[in-house]
Amino acid sequence: MSPLRLVLGLCVLGAVILGVSLVFQRPPAAAEATAFTSSSQCQACHAQVFEEWSGSQHSQSWVNPAVRALSNDFANTDCIDCHAPRPVFETGLANRVLPRESRRQEGVDCIACHQLADGRMAGTIDKPEAACRPAATRELARVEYCAPCHDQHGTVAQWRETEYARQGVGCIDCHMPFRNGDPNQGRDHAMHGGHSLEVVRSAVTLAAERRGDAIVARVTNSGAGHHFPTDERSRAADVFWRPLEADGRPSGPWRWAYRFRSPYRHEVELVDTLLAAQATREIEIADAAGRVEVALFYKLSPYWKDPERPAPEAEARLVHRVVVEP
Ligand code: HEC
Ligand code: HEC
Ligand code: HEC
Ligand code: HEC
Ligand code: HEC
Repeated sequence: MSPLRLVLGLCVLGAVILGVSLVFQRPPAAAEATAFTSSSQCQACHAQVFEEWSGSQHSQSWVNPAVRALSNDFANTDCIDCHAPRPVFETGLANRVLPRESRRQEGVDCIACHQLADGRMAGTIDKPEAACRPAATRELARVEYCAPCHDQHGTVAQWRETEYARQGVGCIDCHMPFRNGDPNQGRDHAMHGGHSLEVVRSAVTLAAERRGDAIVARVTNSGAGHHFPTDERSRAADVFWRPLEADGRPSGPWRWAYRFRSPYRHEVELVDTLLAAQATREIEIADAAGRVEVALFYKLSPYWKDPERPAPEAEARLVHRVVVEP
């Protein structure tokens, strides 16, 4: 055998050994560990989720004018934790999230919700070969996962006392429905709440009946998995009524009758009137003879421009209305 052939032969043998060892040592190779530094990096491969999230309150939590006003542009640094958080799985489900130093304008973003301590992305499937290396993580579907940010005013604790909890209907079952109702299409990330009139309407029903010159209005929490209205103490739902002409036109201004709300701590003169899941509250309205309209309005912020003369149609949103005959 010529020296040249020997060298070539050894080379071929070496290449074969290298190839075989590569195949056996690194099976269908896990993706190169990408360090994700922005949620915009997820957009290319998860366009639909990204679009839904972009329209959600989660994506607005740092730029939201209401939050900026109340936190004094985050001069109150306590407010940064949940509004520009580091990953939930970094601190664990039993703990409050930590504040993030960078790209705060992305708010509660993909990375805050999905990144695991080892850099992989919490998902429903194990797929180490995909760029983001998803790892099946059952905690993602549990209520404890929303709790680090959403139990500060007891929403998760309220849920625990409901029939939904006993039947295993959790936060994501209502707030992240499957797209087009199909489990194979994944879950909608728009996560609507009080900013969506449609969601607020689905939470309660309103009925009213006459009892002599009085009226009894009944509000039932038929659709929320917790108290109504939950979480933010700024939310308020008010019952108003007004007299109507025989032809249906109003013959007087709206009169306030009742408010559902959990007051701020400094509002010591107010009591908590939140309506528990499945519960009904009866509100008696005296001296409401004749044809009367009863309505439930919802406000994101509790204050009226003129507290003496609240203008629900201009300053709140109509949830439901009923007419009571004389
Ligand atoms: C890392 C903190 C964090 C986690 C985890 C989190 N959220 Fe949120 N969520 C927020 C913040 C902050 C806002 C308010 C953003 C704003 O309006 O400025 C919010 C807003 C919402 C809203 C909208 C409320 C509205 O005003 O319309 C819903 C609904 C919601 N979250 C549901 C959930 C559910 C369900 C989970 C669990 C699957 C969850 N969130 C997990 C921080 C979080
Ligand atoms: C423990 C987590 C957490 C901290 C800390 C926190 N927030 Fe929030 N914040 C939330 C969640 C969750 C929501 C959404 C709840 C809801 O919509 O009912 C929210 C919603 C809000 C909203 C309502 C936004 C809207 O558009 O309706 C305002 C305003 C707000 N926060 C201000 C603040 C201020 C000011 C601070 C600091 C004093 C603060 N938050 C600290 C979790 C937190
Ligand atoms: C280069 C493309 C790419 C990028 C960038 C990427 N992913 Fe993925 N991701 C994938 C692929 C492919 C899958 C597997 C999809 C499948 O098999 O259903 C996946 C799966 C996932 C899953 C699990 C899906 C499930 O059904 O449970 C999650 C969660 C996820 N990605 C989150 C993210 C997040 C968050 C980011 C940004 C930080 C990101 N991904 C960036 C390609 C990507
Ligand atoms: C507030 C937390 C939260 C935020 C923000 C969030 N996700 Fe999710 N994501 C979840 C939860 C909860 C699930 C459902 C898990 C389950 O079904 O068990 C999920 C599911 C997914 C899935 C699985 C497939 C699907 O479509 O349901 C992908 C992929 C995903 N998220 C990617 C992203 C990306 C990309 C972003 C940012 C654009 C993002 N998520 C933002 C909580 C979040
Ligand atoms: C049975 C369906 C259902 C379940 C389960 C459910 N919710 Fe809700 N959620 C609603 C409805 C309807 C509303 C609108 C009425 C309201 O604000 O209370 C709502 C409102 C909210 C809001 C918005 C409040 C605001 O101020 O804008 C947040 C935040 C929220 N839910 C979080 C959660 C969390 C966290 C869980 C799990 C512990 C959960 N929800 C379970 C139906 C549900």
